[in-house]
Amino acid sequence: MSNASGVLVFALPGNEALAAALARALHAATGELAVRRFPDGETYLRFVTPVKGCKVVLACSLHNPDAQAMPLLFAAATAKELGAAAVGLVTPYLGYMRQDKRFNDGEAVTSALFARLLSPHIDWLVTVDPHLHRWHSLDDIYSVPSTVVPAAPLLAAWIKTNIPSPVLIGPDAESEQWVSAVAREAGAPHVVLEKIRRGDRDVSVSIPDPQVLRGRTPVLVDDIISTGRTMIAAAKHALAQGLPAPVCIGVHAVFAGDAHEALLAAGAARVVTTNTIPQKTAAIDINAVVAAAVAMQLAG
Ligand code: R5P
Repeated sequence: MSNASGVLVFALPGNEALAAALARALHAATGELAVRRFPDGETYLRFVTPVKGCKVVLACSLHNPDAQAMPLLFAAATAKELGAAAVGLVTPYLGYMRQDKRFNDGEAVTSALFARLLSPHIDWLVTVDPHLHRWHSLDDIYSVPSTVVPAAPLLAAWIKTNIPSPVLIGPDAESEQWVSAVAREAGAPHVVLEKIRRGDRDVSVSIPDPQVLRGRTPVLVDDIISTGRTMIAAAKHALAQGLPAPVCIGVHAVFAGDAHEALLAAGAARVVTTNTIPQKTAAIDINAVVAAAVAMQLAG
């Protein structure tokens, strides 16, 4: 393909579908990036397609952040060294957002540290619903301009099309921001559960007022499904209240370990996610809205 736009999209390993979708939508070319591991575990990386003078777009969802961060940092820094006009990062799932506080003495606040590592090597970033809890905006920790693409309209459209008479349930106070936005767009009622997390995989929830859920299909909505324990606790609680099997919707399907299988085994009717992370549950395609946000950054 000709590259009249001067934009080159590169996939970090595992992000080929995203890079291809972005290139199509942006009428840009995809470039070849060779990434492999040396026998000792170090990363080898080479821009096979020259980047001098080009606007480089790196596609890299960060759901496996430690393994992906080094190639990403090397790619961004190398593109600049090779004379790229600009380097943007498209990371539909931005990892390292959850530790936003020193909960115990001596802990690393990894969200801020990761942002500090990445920011010097990129000129902008585009992501989807980052886990903003104690940070109010990505600007609190990233020193480059960012665009946050909301998944709520797409989740709401999916729910409207697929679930008759839904009631949306947020499993914890942090989910309120996503659940209320989706509920508003879907024209459906919503409730937010009270959650207690005692450990990575030890979570319990309770429904403040089970009556509001009667006669409707429960739809659990959260930003991240990681271990799945938050959704599992919410699904079990809904079932214990005599409600129908819930549909579980997550923006980001991290699916650590057996999360997906465990959620189905706990009684979820179905698990549906976006494709910010490529999983077989990805029924909601965010690539077009992400590409539109990237086009704005490239024009800006
Ligand atoms: C937490 O605040 C998030 O919104 C999610 O509820 C959480 O990340 C889910 O994690 P897990 O699937 O491990 O329970």
